[in-house]
Amino acid sequence: MTANAWASSHLDRIFLGDCAELLAQLPDGCVDLVVSSPPYNLGKEYEAKRALEAYLEEQGRVLGECVRVLKSTGSLFWQVGAFADRGVLVPLDVRFFPILEELGLIPRNRIMWVRQHGLHGARKFSCRHEAILWFSKSNDYIFNLDAIRVPQKYQNKKAWRGEKKGQLTCHPDGKNPGDIWLFRNVKHNHEEQTIHPCQFPEDLVARIVLSTTSEGGVVLDPFMGAGTVAVVSRDHGRHFLGAETEPRYHEVAMRRLKGVPNKSGRFPNLKTLRDYAERTGTPVARYSFDLQVGESPTDRRRARIYPEEHHLEALEQRLSYEEMAFAAKRTGQQVPVDPMVNGGCGPARESGRRRRASMDGPTLFDATGRS
Ligand SMILES: C[S@@+](CC[C@H](N)C(=O)[O-])C[C@H]1O[C@@H](n2cnc3c(N)ncnc32)[C@H](O)[C@@H]1O
Repeated sequence: MTANAWASSHLDRIFLGDCAELLAQLPDGCVDLVVSSPPYNLGKEYEAKRALEAYLEEQGRVLGECVRVLKSTGSLFWQVGAFADRGVLVPLDVRFFPILEELGLIPRNRIMWVRQHGLHGARKFSCRHEAILWFSKSNDYIFNLDAIRVPQKYQNKKAWRGEKKGQLTCHPDGKNPGDIWLFRNVKHNHEEQTIHPCQFPEDLVARIVLSTTSEGGVVLDPFMGAGTVAVVSRDHGRHFLGAETEPRYHEVAMRRLKGVPNKSGRFPNLKTLRDYAERTGTPVARYSFDLQVGESPTDRRRARIYPEEHHLEALEQRLSYEEMAFAAKRTGQQVPVDPMVNGGCGPARESGRRRRASMDGPTLFDATGRS
């Protein structure tokens, strides 16, 4: 197939069917980035251990094809969580790592995607992270740090001695976001939520796309789901392609990409609805979306949407508090009150005066519980 022929029949499209079939139609070295979260519904047909080996073999074949179609300057991001078989843990990234190395890829980062909430373990620590493995095909890979800098914590810090005395010690455009990410999971009340049970947050995909591709680049997601990788790539001037086997998820992805209401005035999620209402200057109340529970959708201006840094800071504060509380309890000291308990409203039974005090902002407690 000539370069033009494959591009016109596959670029900016989502194939309804098995990704193996799509990959087989692509020429070598045609994509700049592969980013995906593969399915891992294991253990359905046979004993879980065998199912896991069969699954990894199948994933190895898909990954082999992804590597073949990747350009020599390209990158691959594979997002996986943990698989548990009757309480026995298999962290999937540990099993994927050697597969990717065997394929000749070079590891760059093991990103931890941290969650504040999730299922509570009764006989083990509750799992609060998933991994995103980043591998490049060669040492000549793209990394546009400037496109994804985040605000510095101390923005005006200056050198106080030496040749650079008086100069800013940090980059004025912001810092490298690091390898701990806290994009809010696309669940309840998230404006991007569609009927798909495990979508990527758009911001997470945008960080990957912007840092590892240039405008006009080609992004492949072999397991498209609700089409997040397609939507984000398109919105940032990149081409996309991918596959999805489930017709109802494929349909959601196509509706997200079209961004217009269907005949009943309905959108696949609240975000697509709000974007359309803002673009056309029409009231949000005129439309509805698939998972709507209230009578009418809310306007974006009235919604509280926090950036990733907000959630990271809240998590940092919460973890510090939990460690202090544990230290106090272990040493028989008074356990401090979390200033953000009940979302900053204080314990249910505390007095109004204390509650107001805790809402004024986080109080720092020392390990003895004294503030
Ligand atoms: C974890 S989800 C991906 C969700 C996606 N990242 C998003 O943001 O919506 C994995 C998807 O792969 C699809 N899938 C499973 N096996 C497939 C295959 N062989 N080819 C293409 N898609 C497949 C599933 O139906 C599911 O929607």
